[in-house]
Amino acid sequence: MTTMDEVYRQACELIPGGVSSPVRAFGSVGGTPVFLASAQGPHVIDIEGRRYVDLVCSWGPALLGHAHPEVVDAVVAAAGRGLSFGAPTTAEVELAGLIRHRVGHIEKVRFVSTGTEATMTAVRLARGATGRDVVIKFAGCYHGHSDALLAAAGSGVATAGLPGSAGVTVAAASDTAVLPYNDVAALEEAFATRGAEIACVITEAAPANMGVVAPEPGFNAAIRRLTSASGALMISDEVLTGFRVGPAGWWGVESGAGGWRPDLVTFGKVVGGGMPLAALAGSADLMDLLAPVGPVYQAGTLSGNPLATAAGIATLRLADAGVYAHVDAASATLQAAVADALTRASVPHRIQTAGNLFSVFFGSDAAAGVRNYEDAKAQDQRPYPAFFHAMLDQGVALPPSVFEAWFLSSAHDDEALGRIIDALPAAARAASEASG
Ligand SMILES: Cc1ncc(COP(=O)(O)O)c(C=O)c1O
Repeated sequence: MTTMDEVYRQACELIPGGVSSPVRAFGSVGGTPVFLASAQGPHVIDIEGRRYVDLVCSWGPALLGHAHPEVVDAVVAAAGRGLSFGAPTTAEVELAGLIRHRVGHIEKVRFVSTGTEATMTAVRLARGATGRDVVIKFAGCYHGHSDALLAAAGSGVATAGLPGSAGVTVAAASDTAVLPYNDVAALEEAFATRGAEIACVITEAAPANMGVVAPEPGFNAAIRRLTSASGALMISDEVLTGFRVGPAGWWGVESGAGGWRPDLVTFGKVVGGGMPLAALAGSADLMDLLAPVGPVYQAGTLSGNPLATAAGIATLRLADAGVYAHVDAASATLQAAVADALTRASVPHRIQTAGNLFSVFFGSDAAAGVRNYEDAKAQDQRPYPAFFHAMLDQGVALPPSVFEAWFLSSAHDDEALGRIIDALPAAARAASEASG
């Protein structure tokens, strides 16, 4: 049998860091990354045959758990009809209709393959629509790895301890203004000084890439008010929250039909049911600025891929009220158990939530509340590696970074939750020892 250490050594010879996406490398928690062989329901199974209760859920997509039989059947059936056509399909029309049905402010949808493409295209569309260059983003919000959006980008770069990325030109960076999250005054100041240059404000609908830092009441509405007043667009990035925190994403949780509406919204993760699929969406007027109707170019060989759309359709059809109620309840149970274990072990911490998303911040400073990236980075980062590895040793796979949300699914049943809860006391004691 190939051991984890052997395969990791081979991987590092062939692939930078041995991984295809940085946070998988266990950089901030240490140790050998776990190479997975399969996944089923709430579990992932590694190449040495160990089974873990999974709280990563592929970083969000696996809302129904892994390898849900009906989603797999839909993908297998689609595969039998052909892997990729590079031509329009009825499945795209069906999936766009399902998205529009759930998120009432949307009129048109464009499919792409990754969240990075969705946000990159949304920014290009905002610049094309307004004829302006400047993009405002918030520190700690991650919108994928396109040049314009990498500044102060939360989890991946924070985990690696990087301020941003080499290879981003000064010109690209200077067109992006980074503001502190949850700070209406800073946003007002930016519009007062540069309003005529600002094409858009892009924000995670509820940030979960610096740990979970929910928008304070009125913050998204303030973005809406200020962008509208200056002729800029509001882009709400729901790649992570969309169809996960509720049937209509964070917009449905916070606002629904009665409140703020973004100009553009981006989706990924759950919308593709575990396959490479993402989307941007908005009003017909704006979306029709995209090629082939309008002058803003965007394209993709694999965009709207038939296997990916099949997985997305099956997932959205299955994600009914019962699924969201289950994930909400499982999340509440787990939050209470984590708080209890850490409190018993005298580990200062704070659990923050945004709908059914939550994450744990460590240390006395964080215990007072985390409202932006500075607060998130100021937490005590020492306990998490010990906590993480103690959970892993007991068969629970947490996200390998303290800056990530914990993800649950409708497949996390009482047995899976019980295994997590049983593992918590020892992990809390390990966290306590590591915090000194
Ligand atoms: C809010 C948000 N936007 C965009 C992205 C980028 O998506 P992808 O990794 O599919 O490129 C992510 C990925 O984690 C995300 O969480």
